[in-house]
Amino acid sequence: MVDKEIEKTIEALLEERREFKPSADFTSQANVREAAIYQRAADDPEAWWESQADRLDWFQKWDKTFEWNAPHHKWFIGGKLNVAHNCLDRHLDSAGDRVAYHWVGEPGDNRSITYSDLHDQVCRLANGLKELGVSKGDRVAIYLPMIPELPAAMLACARIGAAHSVVFGGFSAESLRDRINDAACRVLITADGGYRRGQIIPLKLNADDAVAECESIEKVIVVQRTLEDVNMQEGRDIVYQDLIEAQSSECEAESMDSEDMLYILYTSGTTGKPKGIVHTTGGYLTGVSSTHHLIFDIKPESDVFWCAADIGWVTGHSYIVYGPLANGCTSILYEGAPDWPDKDRWWGIVEEYKATILYTAPTAIRTMMKWGIDYPNKHDLTSLRLLGSVGEPINPEAWIWYQEFIGGGDAPVVDTWWQTETGAIMISALPGLTTLKPGSATIAFPGVEADVLDDKGGLVGKGGGGYLVLKRPTPAMFRTIFGDDERYRKTYFEKFGDEIYFPGDGAKLDDDGYFWLLGRVDDVMNVAGHRISTYEVESALVDHQAVAEAAVVGRKDPKEGETIVAFVTPRAGHEGTDELMIELRQHVAKVIGKLARPHAIIFTDDLPKTRSGKIMRRLLRDIAEGEKPGDVTTLQNAPILDEIREKAKSLGSRDG
Ligand code: PRX
Repeated sequence: MVDKEIEKTIEALLEERREFKPSADFTSQANVREAAIYQRAADDPEAWWESQADRLDWFQKWDKTFEWNAPHHKWFIGGKLNVAHNCLDRHLDSAGDRVAYHWVGEPGDNRSITYSDLHDQVCRLANGLKELGVSKGDRVAIYLPMIPELPAAMLACARIGAAHSVVFGGFSAESLRDRINDAACRVLITADGGYRRGQIIPLKLNADDAVAECESIEKVIVVQRTLEDVNMQEGRDIVYQDLIEAQSSECEAESMDSEDMLYILYTSGTTGKPKGIVHTTGGYLTGVSSTHHLIFDIKPESDVFWCAADIGWVTGHSYIVYGPLANGCTSILYEGAPDWPDKDRWWGIVEEYKATILYTAPTAIRTMMKWGIDYPNKHDLTSLRLLGSVGEPINPEAWIWYQEFIGGGDAPVVDTWWQTETGAIMISALPGLTTLKPGSATIAFPGVEADVLDDKGGLVGKGGGGYLVLKRPTPAMFRTIFGDDERYRKTYFEKFGDEIYFPGDGAKLDDDGYFWLLGRVDDVMNVAGHRISTYEVESALVDHQAVAEAAVVGRKDPKEGETIVAFVTPRAGHEGTDELMIELRQHVAKVIGKLARPHAIIFTDDLPKTRSGKIMRRLLRDIAEGEKPGDVTTLQNAPILDEIREKAKSLGSRDG
C-alpha cells in the first residue's frame, strides 16, 4: 500500500491540477525545440513524411510518396529497402560495437549484445531459414520468450523478405495453432521454455500441440533456453544453435518493395477470430523510427532505452525492436516478471544499466504504486530522464506518482496513444515542446490528423466528447487484415466512411484541444493493457461441455484497467459450483491463454435478452460495475436481472 504520507502528497499534487511545461534544461537539449514542426507537417503532410522517410537508407528512392484509394493507402511507392539492413548493417561502421541490447534473463543471467553481434546472428539465421526453404513472401511464426533470439528471428525474416507472425508466449497452444493456420506459416521458431516468476513456461510442449494441427508447418526451430528435456521430432525439429553454427555470417539483405509485408500481428476484434494486422516495410519503419526519435528524444550515443513491454505485442515490435534498432539505440531487454525474485527487480535493472528512458503501461505503474516506494527507493534511479506510458488511459494519480517517485520529480511523462493497427504512436507530447497534463495523451504527432466526432460524424469541437478518429492515413498504419480485406473496411471504415479511420476509442477534447482518451466504445476489453474481446472469451466458455450460454463484460478495476466478469448459464445436469468455476477458468486459459481468464464467474439460469434474443451486455456491465441497470424496457425476461444482481454482490470490493 502507498502509505498515508505519500497519499497526502499525491492528493496535494492533484489538487493543484498542475500543468507541466517542459523545463528549459530539457528543451535546450531536445530533438524537437520548434513548435513550427506542427505547422510544417499540417501544411504539407506528404513532405513531412518524406523528410521522415529520409531517416532511412533506401536501396532505391520512391517515385511517388502517397497514394490514397480510400480506405486503402500506400506509401513511398516504388521505393526499395530492407528493414534488417536499416536496423543493423547501416550502423556497423559507426556503431558496430555499440550495445543493441542489454539482455537480462529472469534467473539472473545476462548478456550485452552489440550491433555487430546481432548482425552476425541475424545473417546466420537468415541463411539457416533459406536452407530450410523459406523465401521471400513466406510466413514464419515465432513463439519465443523475451530472449535476444526473438528480435534476431524477426530481423532474420525481414532480411530475406519473409513476413513474421510473432505470437505472445502467454498464448495457449490453441491460440498459436489458429494464428499459424490463418497465415499458413511454413516454419515455427520456438524455444524449449521460458522463465516467468521462477517457473518454466513449456513453450515447446504448447508448440507441439499446436503444430500437430498445422499442415503448413514444415520445420520447427527450437532455441535451448531452459535446457529442459523436450520432444524433438526427427526430420521436423532443429536446434537453433546447430542451425546457425553451420551457416555463414554473411547474407545479403533482400531488396524489398516499400509496400511489401513486413509482419502480421494478431489482435482481438469485436467479433470472430483475431484479426491479422498487416504491416508493410517502408511506411512502417518510417513511422516507428520517427516517433521513437522525436517522442522519446533519443540520443543514440548516450541513451539506454527500456520499453518494458513484451515483444509479443505491438509495443514491443515497434519500440523494442524496429524503432530503437532503426535509430541505432541501446535498449534493455528483460525476460521476466517485475516481482521476481523481489518487487524491486525493475529498479535494480534501471540502476545497473543506467536506463535513461522507461516506457511502460499504467497497469504496471499502478502495481508498483501499490507495492510502495520502498522498492524504487532502494535504487539509484537518477539516470532516468524521460518516462512513457502506453496501453490504456493513465489516471492522473498514477501519472504523478510515476513522475514523482520514478522520474525524480522532473522527468517528462509522455502518455502515448496508438494501437496495433496504427503501428506507431499517433497522439503524444513532444517532450521538449508540449505542456503536459496528467491524464491526457495531449496532441496528435506531426503529420497525424486526429479529431473527435459525434455519432453523426460532426465535429464535437473543444470541450466535447465522442469518437476518436484519424482523418488521414499515416505511413505506419496497417494496410489490411490478412486474408480478409472486407473485414478491414467493415471494422474501421463503416462508421464514418472510407476516408475516416475509426479506432474504436472514445475521447474528449479539452479547451486547449488536448485529447483525453476514454477507453473502448465497443466490446473489446482492455485488461492490463491487453486487448481481449468479450466474444473470444464467450466463445471459449461455450466451448466447454458444461456451458449453455455465456456473456462476458469488462469491469473497471483500479489496477488492471479492466477485469473480466463472465455470466454463465450451465447446461441441464450441471451445477454452477466452485469446481466448475475453477474448471472454466482453466478452460479459458487453455483455449486463449491465462491473460483471458475471467476474474469472476457468476452462474445464472438465464441471461438478460431482448425480445429478439440478443443478450444485453450493457445491463450486465452495469451490474458488474455495481450500478443500477439502465433502460430495461426492451428486455423479455426482466426478473432475471434482480436475481443476477443479488449474485453479483459477491463481486464485492474491486481489488480482490
Ligand atoms: O483503447 C486504446 C488503448 O489500447 C488500444 C490499443 O490496443 P493494442 O492494439 O493492444 O495496442 C496497445 C499498445 C499500443 C487502443 O485502442 N490505448 C493504447 N494507448 C493508450 C490507450 N488508451 C488510452 N491512452 C493511451 N495512451
